[in-house]
Amino acid sequence: MEKLLEVKDLHVAFPSKRETVRAVDGVSFEVYQGETFGLVGESGCGKSQTLRSILGLLKQPGRITGGQILYRGADIAQMNDRALQKIRGKEISMIFQEPMTSLNPVLRISTQMYEAFEDEKLSKEAKRQRALELLRLVGIPSPETRLDEYPHQFSGGMRQRAMIAIALGARPKLLLADEPTTALDVTIQDQIMNLLDQLKRELGMSIILVTHDLGVIAQMCDRVAVMYAGQVVEMTDTVTLFSRPRHPYTYGLMGSLPSEDSAGATLEAIQGSPPNLAHLPEGCPFAPRCRFACEVCHKERPNLLEVAPGHLARCHRPDVTEGFQGLIQFPDGAVREEDPSHA
Ligand SMILES: Nc1ncnc2c1ncn2[C@@H]1O[C@H](COP(=O)(O)OP(=O)(O)OP(=O)(O)O)[C@@H](O)[C@H]1O
Ligand code: SF4
Ligand SMILES: [Mg+2]
Repeated sequence: MEKLLEVKDLHVAFPSKRETVRAVDGVSFEVYQGETFGLVGESGCGKSQTLRSILGLLKQPGRITGGQILYRGADIAQMNDRALQKIRGKEISMIFQEPMTSLNPVLRISTQMYEAFEDEKLSKEAKRQRALELLRLVGIPSPETRLDEYPHQFSGGMRQRAMIAIALGARPKLLLADEPTTALDVTIQDQIMNLLDQLKRELGMSIILVTHDLGVIAQMCDRVAVMYAGQVVEMTDTVTLFSRPRHPYTYGLMGSLPSEDSAGATLEAIQGSPPNLAHLPEGCPFAPRCRFACEVCHKERPNLLEVAPGHLARCHRPDVTEGFQGLIQFPDGAVREEDPSHA
């Protein structure tokens, strides 16, 4: 599979007079063609800033302070605005966490959609047909009348769909989806996720899906990076992550997942709150909340190491969650047990 994107040791900081918030602290991952790669973690762990960096869309005073973002080998982190414009919304599109920040309230949906294919020099009628086709694809009823409406005439779910239609307008190779279903009701959430999955297959694109919900990861993703305090703390394929998590934080996140048969598993939600990214503790950033923390954890930062083939974890004690039995139910109904090769 072709490697589409490679994020290497990315650092993002928000400096102020008083302190510097290290929002992204050495994040590395790769995304291959046609895969859905998940980024999961609690609020404030750096998911959105990682995505925004990829399109050069950090808000002031945030800036990339180190690392590379290689898209098909070219470093996006070094590109000027003009070079970025050629990629943004064309090769790589983003669905934002807040639908209204990316839809322009004073422009008709049609105008906003046409911008995505302005480079293609289509006739007015061809543009209209293409926009209608996209609205139909994302499940907007009566697209002929909806196309010329304004965002405020759309319900929350329809706005989200319109945003996806705009993001897909230029047939991107990579879609960055930042919590694309937050604030939508569960039925619509499900529809949008199914839609993204279907579009990924039909258009052959890759997706980076940001969520705080491991259930969504199980449903959608091929591989996953779990983030904590601006760092990747665990990364592997989805099935392995659920059947044999190696980081206590991931293990804790699973405690908030509903499972049909959780008898026998010790599933507990994580106590305490996320750390202040301007003042991280000396040792492992998760240590104050980790029930497995020992002396070394409070003194030394763990590195991200390979704990099994293709499985990375940032923990001094990656075997400590061993008793965990894979009891997480996948959407296909399968309950995947622990892989004996990892035992
Ligand atoms: N404008 C800003 N000024 C200072 N710090 C900021 C700013 N925006 C974000 N941050 C910092 O960056 C960190 C990471 O933010 P980010 O938006 O990536 O979180 P997230 O993982 O997307 O969270 P959520 O799930 O709530 O969207 C936050 O903890 C915050 O401290
Ligand atoms: S390094 Fe220690 S404190 Fe950090 S997650 Fe691992 S066991 Fe817990
Ligand atoms: Mg976010």
